[in-house]
Amino acid sequence: MITHIFEMIRSVNLLFLFFFLISLSSAEISLNSTLYASNPSQTWFSSNKTFSLGFVPISSSFLAAITYNGGSVVVWSIRTPVDSSGSLRLLPTGDLILAHGNGSTVWSSNTSSMGVTSASLDDTGNLILGNASSTVWSSFDYPTDTIVPSQKFPAGKELTNGNYSFTLSNLGNLTLLWKGSGSITYWNQGLNSSVNATLTSPILNLQPIGILSISDPSLSDDAVLYYSSDYAEGSDILRFLRLDSDGNLRIYSSSRGSGTTDVRWAAVLDQCRVFGYCGDLGICSYNNSNPICGCPSQNFELIDPSDSRKGCKRKMEMANCPGSATMLQLDHALFLTYPPELSSEVFFVGISACRLNCLVSSSCIASTSLSDGTGLCYLKTPEFISGYENPSLPSTSYVKVCGPVVPNPSSLEGAQGKGSSLYAWVVAVVVLGTLLCLILVEGGLWYWCLRKSPRFGGFSSRYALLEYASGAPVQFTYKELQRSTKGFKEKLGAGGFGAVYRGVLANRTIVAVKQLEGIEQGERQFRMEVATISSTHHLNLVRLIGFCSEGRHRLLVYEFMKNGSLDNFIFSSEDVLGKFLNWENRFNIVLGTARGITYLHEECRDCIIHCDIKPENILLDENFNAKVSDFGLAKLINPKDQRYRTLKSVRGTRGYLAPEWLANLLITSKSDVYSYGMVLLEIVSGKRNFDVSSETNQKKFSVWAYEEFDKGNIEAVMDKRLREQPDVDMAQVVRALQVSFWCIQEQPSHRPTMGKVVQMLEGIAEIGKPPAPRALTTEGFVGGNNINISSSVSALSTFAASAPAPSSVSSLQTAEVSPLTSSGRIKNPENATASLLG
Ligand SMILES: *[C@@H]1O[C@H](CO)[C@@H](O)[C@H](O)[C@H]1NC(C)=O
Ligand SMILES: *[C@@H]1O[C@H](CO)[C@@H](O)[C@H](O)[C@H]1NC(C)=O
Ligand SMILES: *[C@@H]1O[C@H](CO)[C@@H](O)[C@H](O)[C@H]1NC(C)=O
Ligand SMILES: *[C@@H]1O[C@H](CO)[C@@H](O)[C@H](O)[C@H]1NC(C)=O
Ligand SMILES: *[C@@H]1O[C@H](CO)[C@@H](O)[C@H](O)[C@H]1NC(C)=O
Ligand SMILES: *[C@@H]1O[C@H](CO)[C@@H](O)[C@H](O)[C@H]1NC(C)=O
Ligand SMILES: *[C@@H]1O[C@H](CO)[C@@H](O)[C@H](O)[C@H]1NC(C)=O
Ligand SMILES: *[C@@H]1O[C@H](CO)[C@@H](O)[C@H](O)[C@H]1NC(C)=O
Ligand SMILES: *[C@@H]1O[C@H](CO)[C@@H](O)[C@H](O)[C@H]1NC(C)=O
Ligand SMILES: *[C@@H]1O[C@H](CO)[C@@H](O)[C@H](O)[C@H]1NC(C)=O
Repeated sequence: MITHIFEMIRSVNLLFLFFFLISLSSAEISLNSTLYASNPSQTWFSSNKTFSLGFVPISSSFLAAITYNGGSVVVWSIRTPVDSSGSLRLLPTGDLILAHGNGSTVWSSNTSSMGVTSASLDDTGNLILGNASSTVWSSFDYPTDTIVPSQKFPAGKELTNGNYSFTLSNLGNLTLLWKGSGSITYWNQGLNSSVNATLTSPILNLQPIGILSISDPSLSDDAVLYYSSDYAEGSDILRFLRLDSDGNLRIYSSSRGSGTTDVRWAAVLDQCRVFGYCGDLGICSYNNSNPICGCPSQNFELIDPSDSRKGCKRKMEMANCPGSATMLQLDHALFLTYPPELSSEVFFVGISACRLNCLVSSSCIASTSLSDGTGLCYLKTPEFISGYENPSLPSTSYVKVCGPVVPNPSSLEGAQGKGSSLYAWVVAVVVLGTLLCLILVEGGLWYWCLRKSPRFGGFSSRYALLEYASGAPVQFTYKELQRSTKGFKEKLGAGGFGAVYRGVLANRTIVAVKQLEGIEQGERQFRMEVATISSTHHLNLVRLIGFCSEGRHRLLVYEFMKNGSLDNFIFSSEDVLGKFLNWENRFNIVLGTARGITYLHEECRDCIIHCDIKPENILLDENFNAKVSDFGLAKLINPKDQRYRTLKSVRGTRGYLAPEWLANLLITSKSDVYSYGMVLLEIVSGKRNFDVSSETNQKKFSVWAYEEFDKGNIEAVMDKRLREQPDVDMAQVVRALQVSFWCIQEQPSHRPTMGKVVQMLEGIAEIGKPPAPRALTTEGFVGGNNINISSSVSALSTFAASAPAPSSVSSLQTAEVSPLTSSGRIKNPENATASLLG
């Protein structure tokens, strides 16, 4: 009986032992056990069931992961998902593997030859494979995107999520990196400077109460970095640090059993400042406080309409868009710029130069002018750009697009509620009402003041519109122009297309009226050309105010330039006082002219080759700002008229004509660059480029100037009067000369584009040493060849004016010239395409 009782006690004991063993085995994972993705409820638990290892369903596949709260928080995972046939095995060899259903291994802990005897998931969330003496492998040592308390994150380890990465440097800096195309650091925080220590092997910890700190042998106490907003609050809360897929690093709290997580701290406060958040060319903005991604304009479309974070692409790629690149302007927007991007792309230039420099640079795809007082302009060249738009940003950005800009429908209206649109209506009504009242009152006053004035009746409705605010050219009658020029009395000059007279319009604007000669084009064609010219607005281009087309009369009315043309200043004899331009003025003119021509070549809708750049065609306003005149006129000449064939085939002025004019080659924008180079040389030297004298060794001045420049004899080339000026910026002078020699290279392809010229003059682009403009064997002696013959003929005569053309030119007269190609317009400013000579 007693033995019986004994037996019973023993078996109960055994039962207890059995149950004890079972509960232990839930923490220990024995060798040769397997989890199947097809049964996600099957898991390996930590001993007090805080954490579990198993399969977590994500969309249509399964992730092998260590989770908290029964799967709601993933704290570690094997990155590659598997389908439902997948399995996670702890092999008898001690290797933990994730395998597909067909047996192929996806992932392995590579511990097969290390004598692994046990595996366990502990209550801190660490999965440990151990042998008899030590830990062989642990999930804490291979973090994915999350750190939990008691997990040590030393320097050299990395959290990753998509293209984002988080690291701790040896100096204790926390760094967030974007590693798409290139590597961009968008967040970098060091230790508080009050921590006086040189770290040796820093370790980042997240303390269970929600404090992010760094420990190091050289620190007596942990250096606290950040406190979560709920630190030291509550109990039984898991805090964890995670690098999220949106590139932000956050501390979360999740209380046991709740299944919810709350953000308690974020590294980047302004989510839109996370590089690449909206993908390439995507623009991040806020809808209420949620970041949203969009495209810069309707010239773009989302790469993946179901995921706006994938970025945008151009509907028309820039590579397929020669010559019609325009800059889309984005107000209150910037393109994120972080190290190491910063260094090579940052310039101190104004907002329009920021736009222009990008437009003319083939590698630039976007630019940002910060407008925050730093004067900084970033030209973005990498393939990947990340945008941010917010009404609070002072910056203005530009993106290169193909063809006309198609703006986004106003997103503000969509985002704002009905209340604010009502508010907008009220504002609009009040403003309009006030305006109307003002106009009525002003009109009344005008009438009251002027009703007795005899001129009042003379005001035609057209002159009331003559504010030409609209930019449309005003049409004048011949009579009106006759009256305003007092019968074409005061002649200002005679250009290649006809004489220019001073006139005063009825609204007292002083104008220059150009009477075109030899133009017998149809009315429509003429109006079209006028429209083109008058739509070409630039600070450095003379503005067309109006025109007259009546019978045989074709006149153009331009704004009047008080200081006349540049040649009067640079070539005037030394004793004419007050006509001396100092270096500062000259350099401004040099730059202004270059900008004006750049606009003609590269920016306006119908690009124009000027074909006749010379000092006579560069006018100066009262502040000595350069304004290029006479552009766009080449097309006005009637191509069928034999008389003007020569004129049109070889327009332009000798001395400024590029060699390709005479060599029967393609005429391109580079031909203008050549002429500009000659003008530039003249502005520096005060000498005509083709002057030949004993002073220049019987060589053409431009040739001689290069030789002197090559010898380093800059002063000899400079205008004598400039040499006496005390504060000449010699670096600018040298730059100007270098640019000029580059521009007058014989080979068009060796010459820079006008946009590049602007950059070189501004000192933004590097300038190499210019080679000799022409091969010295064919150059340097008057009459050496055709080019020299033609370029040594008198300066001011255009080919139109000079009757007998040189032989090389007369052979051109027979060339077939189509009206379109003779227009002097170009489709592609960079490539040689406009074949003027057939
Ligand atoms: C592993 O387990 C399977 C059954 O699940 C069994 O057939 C096999 O013999 C075991 N292998 C070893 C080495 O224990
Ligand atoms: C096994 O299946 C996976 C997909 O389930 C496939 O990617 C892999 O190539 C297959 N491997 C072999 C060896 O068939
Ligand atoms: C295991 O080894 C393979 C091949 O050497 C390697 O690709 C893999 O990253 C290793 N796994 C781990 C967890 O280190
Ligand atoms: C346990 O693993 C360590 C390496 O992690 C190794 O050096 C040691 O020899 C292993 N012990 C046994 C008994 O295999
Ligand atoms: C489980 O263990 C961890 C670590 O020892 C402890 O923080 C946690 O409070 C435990 N949870 C329960 C429910 O006992
Ligand atoms: C990483 O960036 C590249 C472009 O730089 C992109 O093609 C890729 O899709 C990105 N990867 C992820 C996971 O977002
Ligand atoms: C560390 O971070 C600080 C900002 O807190 C920064 O000024 C410093 O340059 C960083 N150091 C390194 C080596 O990145
Ligand atoms: C550094 O820490 C001290 C106190 O420990 C604090 O007053 C100071 O503001 C901190 N400086 C920075 C830059 O965080
Ligand atoms: C930092 O510590 C060194 C010695 O450990 C001391 O000489 C130095 O003055 C300290 N600097 C500051 C700013 O406290
Ligand atoms: C902005 O958010 C509201 C709701 O919060 C949503 O209805 C609206 O579509 C969002 N607008 C955009 C442009 O995403």
